[in-house]
Amino acid sequence: MRSKDLLSISDLESHEIRLLLADATALKAEPRQNTLAGKTLALVFEKPSLRTRVSFELAIKQLGGEAIYLSPAEVGLGKRESVADVARVLSRFVDALAVRTFSQGTLEELAQWARVPVINALSDTEHPCQALADLLTIFEHKGEFPGLKLAYVGDGNNVAVSLALAAASVGLNCTVATPKGYEMPAAAVRQARALAATNRCVFNAVNDPAEAVKGADAVYTDVWISMGQEAENEIRLKAFAGYQVDEALVSQAKPDALIMHPLPAHYGQEVAEGLLDRPQSVVFDQAENRLHVQKALLADMLGGLLMSWAA
Ligand code: CP
Ligand code: NVA
Repeated sequence: MRSKDLLSISDLESHEIRLLLADATALKAEPRQNTLAGKTLALVFEKPSLRTRVSFELAIKQLGGEAIYLSPAEVGLGKRESVADVARVLSRFVDALAVRTFSQGTLEELAQWARVPVINALSDTEHPCQALADLLTIFEHKGEFPGLKLAYVGDGNNVAVSLALAAASVGLNCTVATPKGYEMPAAAVRQARALAATNRCVFNAVNDPAEAVKGADAVYTDVWISMGQEAENEIRLKAFAGYQVDEALVSQAKPDALIMHPLPAHYGQEVAEGLLDRPQSVVFDQAENRLHVQKALLADMLGGLLMSWAA
C-alpha cells in the first residue's frame, strides 16, 4: 500500500482497493495462513463494538499473529495519557494499531506519532474497513461494479462517507439521500464527485430518498443515532422521519436489489422491522466480510504478502 496508515478510505488508490478485494477473496477461500506469525495488533477502542473487535482479533489470529484489546476505560486516549505518548509507547510493543475513536483528529495524531501502521476502525468521520467489506459483498452478489447503482439513505456521516468514496473509487454509481442538515460534509461530496469522474461513474447527493433508490441495485442504510450522539436522540428521530428504509421504499429499487446495513440496526427506525430478514438482505455477508477484508489489509500492511500475489 502506498500509505503507512488507513485513516480514510481515500488513503487507498482505486487499484489498491481492487487488489485488497482480490486478496480478501483468496483469504476467504484459504482462511488460515502463518504469514503474520509473531506480529501483534493492538485494538484501541473509545467506543463499543461487536463486529470490528471480533473480526480484527480473528483476522490477525488466523494469519498467525495475536491481538491485544484495550477498552475505552483502559486507555483514556488524551485523558489518562497524551495521544502522542500512547502512540509512541504502543509502537514499541506492537506492529499495528486498529483504532476506534470519536474524532478523526485523534486518529491523525496517533498516526503522526506511531511508527507502526494505524487503521481506522471507525471514527465519527469515516469507517473505511466497513466500506471495503461492503464492496466485497456487492461484488460477490452482483459481479463487476460499473453499471450498478448503489443508494444510501440516512445520515451523511462516517459509514456514508467511506461508502461513497469507496464506490466512486471502483466505478460504482452512488446516490446518497440525507435529510437537510445531515448531508455528507461538503469536502467529502466534492471528493466523491471528483473520484467518480476519474473512475467513469456518477456520484449524487440528494435529499429525496425515492430519487436515490429509484432503479438501484443495492439499498443501504445506517443508524440515525450514531455512537456518541445519544443526547440528540429526539431531534434526530424527528429529522429522519420519512427516511426509513421500508418495503415501500425498497419496491422502487430493482426487484433483486440488495438490502445493506453495517449493523447494529435499530429496527423500526432507519430500517423497518423484518426487512433485514428478507432474502435480498446481505447484512450478515457484510459482517462476515469484515474478517476477510481486514485480513487482506493486515497481510498487506504487515508484510504478510498477497496484494494479489503477482502485483
Ligand atoms: N459495523 C460495525 O462496525 O459494527 P461494530 O460497531 O459492532 O464493530
Ligand atoms: N454510524 C454508526 C456506525 C456503526 C457501525 C456509528 O457511528 O455508530
